[in-house]
Amino acid sequence: MVTAEQLYEKLKDIQVGNPVCRFTRENCELLLPTIQRIEDLKREKNAIILVHNYVAPQIYYSVADYTGDSYGLSKKAKESDADVIVFSAVRFMAETAKILNPGKMVLDPNPNGGCSLADGITAGDVIQLRKKFPDHTFVCYINTTAEVKAQCDVCVTSSNVYGIIEKIPNDKIYFLPDRLMGENVISHLKSRGVNKDIQLWDGTCYVHEEYQPESIDQVRKNFADVEILVHPECSSSVVGKADYVGSTSQMLDHVRESEKDAFFLLTECGLTGVLQSEFPEKTFAGSCTLCKYMKSNSLEDILGVLENPNPPSIIEIDPETQKRALHCVNQMFRYAN
Ligand code: 13P
Ligand code: SF4
Repeated sequence: MVTAEQLYEKLKDIQVGNPVCRFTRENCELLLPTIQRIEDLKREKNAIILVHNYVAPQIYYSVADYTGDSYGLSKKAKESDADVIVFSAVRFMAETAKILNPGKMVLDPNPNGGCSLADGITAGDVIQLRKKFPDHTFVCYINTTAEVKAQCDVCVTSSNVYGIIEKIPNDKIYFLPDRLMGENVISHLKSRGVNKDIQLWDGTCYVHEEYQPESIDQVRKNFADVEILVHPECSSSVVGKADYVGSTSQMLDHVRESEKDAFFLLTECGLTGVLQSEFPEKTFAGSCTLCKYMKSNSLEDILGVLENPNPPSIIEIDPETQKRALHCVNQMFRYAN
């Protein structure tokens, strides 16, 4: 188990959030009884805890067995031999773990953790669209419900969307629900000389759609040597001005490998916190916007679901939906490999 000193070492350089979080040794001491109880229950129940890169740092750096982006965490869920998987992120990620592990107990400590993308389209919408576009391959972003995945052909994440859509042999693609990501796919394929008919649903991430290209111009004007990193959920006007576009884990890896010392990030600011902690010698600035869904995770709720798993936090998916959604998610693993 992490000690107060080790936790403080990880948290002391983090200066993001609203209000700005600044951890003290005393804060870390106060978290220890909850962390200790979670660790005991993990052992008792043969449970693992998966934590997304945007989740609060006191969770990320204490009880997580694996941290990562939605692709990496899905892979961990797929490979896990634990009896119980606690997924600290948002609902669609916990559902994906259940799709991959129908026989395991998957717990969501944040059952109201929606997502403006996943909440913006229903299975009924996809059924209607399929009638209108019968020859199209339906590709869904992982930020969708199990019911929506069950109506689609191939799932993708921010780390593999460009490559998978390029690889799909059909030139007619319906991509949902992220319109901005879809527009970025279209520009990317065009730049590679690939021409596909790509139809888009009009969904957006309420965090990433807010970013504007002018903020990049401003930063470049003032800091000549800064590297700009953005998530592909941003608009194409933002993505077009970036130095690097990738998933949250790909951005982390990119910083690890980059020779630059200063970075400007356009993504949820939990990632900026992780980067400040991992690379204290480098400078990170960002448009610090919080995803209210990711930020509603807490150590207390993780303890609560392990102590007393209750219906809203136990993920249940009906067998037919699970089977169809699994096919869609497995197609992603097949193309990604
Ligand atoms: P990643 O898969 O890049 O971590 O993205 C998930 C997400 O919801 C970004 O807003
Ligand atoms: Fe959904 Fe946007 Fe939050 Fe990611 S940041 S979970 S896409 S609302």
